Amino acid sequence: MNILVTGGAGFIGGNFIRWMRQNAPEHRLVNVDALTYAGNLESLSDIAEDEYYHFIRADIRDRLKMDEVFRTHDITHVVNFAAESHVDRSIVDPEIFLSTNIIGTQSLLDTAKANWKLAPDDKYSREYRGNVKFLQVSTDEVYGALGKEGMFTETTPLSPNSPYSAAKAGADLVCRAYHETFGLPLNITRCSNNYGPYQFPEKLIPLMIHNCIQEKPLPVYGDGMQIRDWLHVFDHCSAIYTVLSRGEPGEIYNIGGNNERANIDIVRFIILTLGKTEQLITYVKDRPGHDRRYAIDNTKITTKLGWRPAYTFERGLMGTIEWYRANSAWMERVLSGEYTDYYERMYAPSFS
Ligand code: NAD
Ligand code: TYD
Repeated sequence: MNILVTGGAGFIGGNFIRWMRQNAPEHRLVNVDALTYAGNLESLSDIAEDEYYHFIRADIRDRLKMDEVFRTHDITHVVNFAAESHVDRSIVDPEIFLSTNIIGTQSLLDTAKANWKLAPDDKYSREYRGNVKFLQVSTDEVYGALGKEGMFTETTPLSPNSPYSAAKAGADLVCRAYHETFGLPLNITRCSNNYGPYQFPEKLIPLMIHNCIQEKPLPVYGDGMQIRDWLHVFDHCSAIYTVLSRGEPGEIYNIGGNNERANIDIVRFIILTLGKTEQLITYVKDRPGHDRRYAIDNTKITTKLGWRPAYTFERGLMGTIEWYRANSAWMERVLSGEYTDYYERMYAPSFS
């Protein structure tokens, strides 16, 4: 495969590139990333010179550039990670989420269709080159929130609550339409919350680890009893490769490892592991529209494709805490002026 990985300088995309080089080294990888605040090439510096890896700085909404990338690198597969990904930012500035997540995805779908279709000018033709696929990396957040009971399956109706999840749901629907109308071979994966190395410290786990190491307040939204279903990023990577290789075209696959945890329990686990005090916990005003609970039913991917997660949550989180402790230099460099401004804007009123 010649795989276009979009958003490969971000958290999951970067881990996917490294995972692929270690576990499926026969495939060529082209990383297209606009290097927004969330993109950090330093996370991939160890493979920058790898001959099976190539980086291009570009915006997925730039259609001419995407077409050039497809032609130059004979792209056969796309894994679309590129997105604006943080719910809190989407509450402050929704528009970029719709633009990147929906229009950006459509730009890639059009490019894939034009390059892979055997008769690109025939609107009735549904014939494509052999061995091509578009994989849209989506999220469980498109399903909305759960109460105390139940789990998301692939047929749960879409009911997104934040501008972020609405934009991801919009992209999913555009992907579905390109499969139904044009026959484009594609899959959509919907994964639960990821954790692991190289995650930008605006998200719960790296933010709490960083603040805890620094003995700064740990800002817990609302009562801290919101539940997320956590998956180690390496398990997400192996699931994506499974779907890319063996997923049935047109199918959606939920990805999750049955690790439901309340936010406050994760914060306590981090405090305990780092040997700090619970007095650092600071309850702050809740996020507007905050989803109470997510839980993934992974029956389809485990039974139909035989995928299994490898990490238990406690082992994965211990390793992650250790990684951030050992990579404080990476963290310090990521915490640029932009991040500091963001943190001040988002959290300062809570602590004053
Ligand atoms: P991230 O914010 O860490 O990385 C996103 C990357 O996309 C960055 O490198 C950024 O520079 C790049 N990007 C943004 N806009 C771009 C554009 N217009 N053109 C090209 N590149 C652009 O995000 P992440 O946490 O790695 O998430 C990756 C994908 O996985 C997203 O689509 C997200 O919705 C999905 N997802 C994330 C999680 C999670 O827990 N983080 C869970 C499920 C699904
Ligand atoms: P986050 O990592 O932003 O992921 P998502 O909103 O996509 O699930 O948040 C995970 C949970 O942690 C969510 O319930 C919000 C909560 N949270 C806090 O309590 N404090 C924080 O500072 C952050 C960033 C998140």
